[in-house]
Amino acid sequence: MPIQDKKQDTKPTYYLTTPIYYVNARPHLGHTYTTVAADAVARWKRMRGYDVLFLTGTDEHGQKIERSAAKAGKTPQEFAAEVSSEFRGLWDRMGLTYDDYIRTTEPRHKQGVQHLFSELQKRGFIYKGTYSGQYCVWDELYVEGTPGTPCPDCGRITETVSEENYFFKLSAFERKLLEYYEQHPEFIRPEARRNEVMAFVQGGLRDLSISRTSFNWGIPVPGDEKHVIYVWMDALANYITALGYGSENCDNFNKYWPADVHLIGKEISRFHCVYWPAFLMAAELPLPKSVVAHGWLLFEQSKMSKSRGNIVRAETVLDVLGADALRYFLLREVTFGQDGSFSFDALVQRYNADLANGYGNLVSRTLAMIVKYFDGVVPAGEAADASIRATLEQQTEQFDQRLEPLDFSRGLEHAWSAIAAVDSYITAQAPWKVAAKDEAESRAKLAGILYTASEAIRMITALVYPVIPEAATKVWQQLGLGDIAKADLKDLKWGDLPSGTKLGELGSVFPRAEKEAIERMQKMEEDRQSQTAADQEAASEQAAARQTKTSGPAEQPPPPHVPEPFSATGLSPEQEADAVAQQAAADQQVGPVSAVSDPLPPPQPVVEPVSPAVPAEPKIGIEDFAKVDLRVAIIRVAERVPKADRLLRLEVDLGYEQRQILAGIAGAYTPESLIGRKVVIVANLAPRKLRGLESNGMIVAASIGEKGTPVLAGFLEDVEIGARLK
Ligand code: ME8
Ligand code: MG
Repeated sequence: MPIQDKKQDTKPTYYLTTPIYYVNARPHLGHTYTTVAADAVARWKRMRGYDVLFLTGTDEHGQKIERSAAKAGKTPQEFAAEVSSEFRGLWDRMGLTYDDYIRTTEPRHKQGVQHLFSELQKRGFIYKGTYSGQYCVWDELYVEGTPGTPCPDCGRITETVSEENYFFKLSAFERKLLEYYEQHPEFIRPEARRNEVMAFVQGGLRDLSISRTSFNWGIPVPGDEKHVIYVWMDALANYITALGYGSENCDNFNKYWPADVHLIGKEISRFHCVYWPAFLMAAELPLPKSVVAHGWLLFEQSKMSKSRGNIVRAETVLDVLGADALRYFLLREVTFGQDGSFSFDALVQRYNADLANGYGNLVSRTLAMIVKYFDGVVPAGEAADASIRATLEQQTEQFDQRLEPLDFSRGLEHAWSAIAAVDSYITAQAPWKVAAKDEAESRAKLAGILYTASEAIRMITALVYPVIPEAATKVWQQLGLGDIAKADLKDLKWGDLPSGTKLGELGSVFPRAEKEAIERMQKMEEDRQSQTAADQEAASEQAAARQTKTSGPAEQPPPPHVPEPFSATGLSPEQEADAVAQQAAADQQVGPVSAVSDPLPPPQPVVEPVSPAVPAEPKIGIEDFAKVDLRVAIIRVAERVPKADRLLRLEVDLGYEQRQILAGIAGAYTPESLIGRKVVIVANLAPRKLRGLESNGMIVAASIGEKGTPVLAGFLEDVEIGARLK
């Protein structure tokens, strides 16, 4: 007997994680998407009887954070603490049920990471060497290629690094990883990501630099403190340091590791599916059971991200429609694993159709009839309709099957088919007509209909609880069933609603949203954005002031925008400055978003000039002209930059290298018309950032007419690319 008792006590464990988010910018809907999905899984697994550990947190070290802090005029510690608490505050406000929140600046993490490093070192997987190559600070990624190579992930031009590092023998794991992927097809999901990762590893793995010496915001290498551990090794280890790995108390590690699911966005698959398992293999630790990579949340046609400036904050939706509306939308609208679009229109439409008119209306009409015809007491339901019962049983099973691979949108489709079925059932049975008849038989029939409907609502409510917990909690109470969080919903089956249950206090769960809600949310975003822009300005002024007072930290804040000697439109410096101001004012109206630590770069200085440029510079010598490296290049890629009407992002080929240039010529040229066209570029212009994108060079154009319309320079003869103009 005691043995059996013990067995009942031991729940199966389920360990689920989100990425730990960088603290270089405040949370937006992209981060909310992952964390909400994880919360829904955690709630669902708990409801089904698992002992769940749901972990989230923040990634606070590395060069990117160090620079962001400097830009904001703060110490990295201060800066990281502030942004980390914004993430946590948002998750709390949304009622997310994470069990632990890890910050990589915590001592427990530092200790664990150093332990892992030493373990790898002890086993001979670490050696000292020199890294000379490219590095993308934005993605904290080593990139193969020559100076000027853009980052394959974000397109920013990489920085050249040459320093003494520790290396991890990643190459030793190439075959082992491939074998592992083969033997564990469920390790990387969905299939498309698995194929990508496998192709990457099949392409060959080079040893990985796992320390840096040119800055110090990180965890020191044990015994060689001038090195800090590579931020991705530091970050990935959070999944075990949070469990006490490397400390005296490893109970949680023993209990929960390996993780059941690392939930991530698809852009960080390589780190999670190649580096992380290789580190674990090297340390002789078990590998996570699966890495599930979801797609991107798009806004205005591109990935929502702080660098693109096309973000929406969760707070806006919370203020107007509440957390459930946002959770439902994200999990229902986006097919899990694929990219999906966010828009305020679509959000309000889903809210009204599925939540207000669908679930909310079904609950209120059914419960109101129980009040009206049965004094608010659930009647006995002998005459329960068999087809509704069958539908509910079937949809419940399907819902669970869909959620197992985290396919929320399909799972929710099943729940909403059940809602539609009960709705039609009520309409077909017309209980109000049955009630109008004054016979004992119709009384029994009425009881049957309403028991059926309310029992169906109970099952539906239990199903949707992980996704819309606030509403489900209210409905559970309205059904007279008390606190849903305490209910045993391990085996959800028909007939568990006791007849005779006295309903709780009724009230609307999802009031209909008016069209005006859309405008309100849009307005709130715009206001928040201009506030952010103002805050940023203040912060960079502060940082600049600090810079002049002290000799300044190693990282210089970006220099103020200096108009370039040449411009695609041939504007004079004064006109350019003017244009910058005009463009900035125009941008303010449409509302670009920029985050705390990624200040909006100076917009492309191209707006109608007041008059054509009049050169007024003194004469220069030939040696001055020779300083300008003018070259022929061919345009390979041309595309618009979201929210910047006049800007095009070009990738040009110089024969000896490819590079990205941003040009303010969208008013005069369509992107399609430019592909394959040969142009003249200033090849040795210092790179600068526009809209968070690096522009590496400038296209030469004449500026004609009153409006200064740009006309690209070209040749009548066919000219070889890379040729120099002199
Ligand atoms: O990569 N759509 O942090 P991060 C969907 N610190 N998901 C999005 C998204 C979007 N538009 N934008 C962000 C890092 N996300 C590292 C992780 S883990 C050991 C270290 C979500 O702040 C998505 O989960 O850039 C993505 O993977 C994550 O935020 C990236 O957050
Ligand atoms: Mg990112």
